[in-house]
Amino acid sequence: MAVKPWLWLALGAIAAAPAIAGDNYATERNAVTLSPAQTQFILRCGGCHGTLGVSPPRSVPSLRGVAGWFLCTPEGREYVIRLPNVSRAQFDDATLAQVMNFVTFDLGERSAPPAAARFTQAEVAAIRARPLNALPLRQFRRKVVTGLVRRCHAPASMLDYDRRG
Ligand code: HEC
Repeated sequence: MAVKPWLWLALGAIAAAPAIAGDNYATERNAVTLSPAQTQFILRCGGCHGTLGVSPPRSVPSLRGVAGWFLCTPEGREYVIRLPNVSRAQFDDATLAQVMNFVTFDLGERSAPPAAARFTQAEVAAIRARPLNALPLRQFRRKVVTGLVRRCHAPASMLDYDRRG
């Protein structure tokens, strides 16, 4: 007896069901889990710096693989906290310390000097009380980054941001 076409369709649907469910489980297993600091970075900083810390370097400096260099000099360490977008971010001091540790040690990959200390809530509170509001920021950054390149051999490409036309 010939099997009716509708029966083939029904059998096909039953056979396909586990495969579809299986795909869903696989997607769940591969889902990326973000830390709280990473989530805050994506929400508050990622719009300019890119969710992975990679941005068009002449418009916004890239952070990935380089942000840790700032921890090489005292003025570099202060600069990254005093930046208006950082010091005035809507975070309490403890959260800002976590976000900046994520930026410098995780996004920065191996660029932080091995002996560099992590930011603490107290340090961040003291530095962000002196934001870089009134200064010509570009000039200030050039001085800080030139110091990193000369004294710590940070990559000269960190000065690309300054070279935009
Ligand atoms: C509106 C765009 C914008 C947002 C939002 C922003 N930044 Fe930036 N960021 C910049 C720009 C532009 C610079 C370069 C300095 C300057 O000219 O302001 C910079 C510089 C930096 C630097 C120093 C890198 C360097 O090479 O000078 C760090 C670190 C940094 N930002 C972290 C953050 C963090 C963390 C946040 C979120 C709390 C954030 N930024 C939010 C645009 C932004």
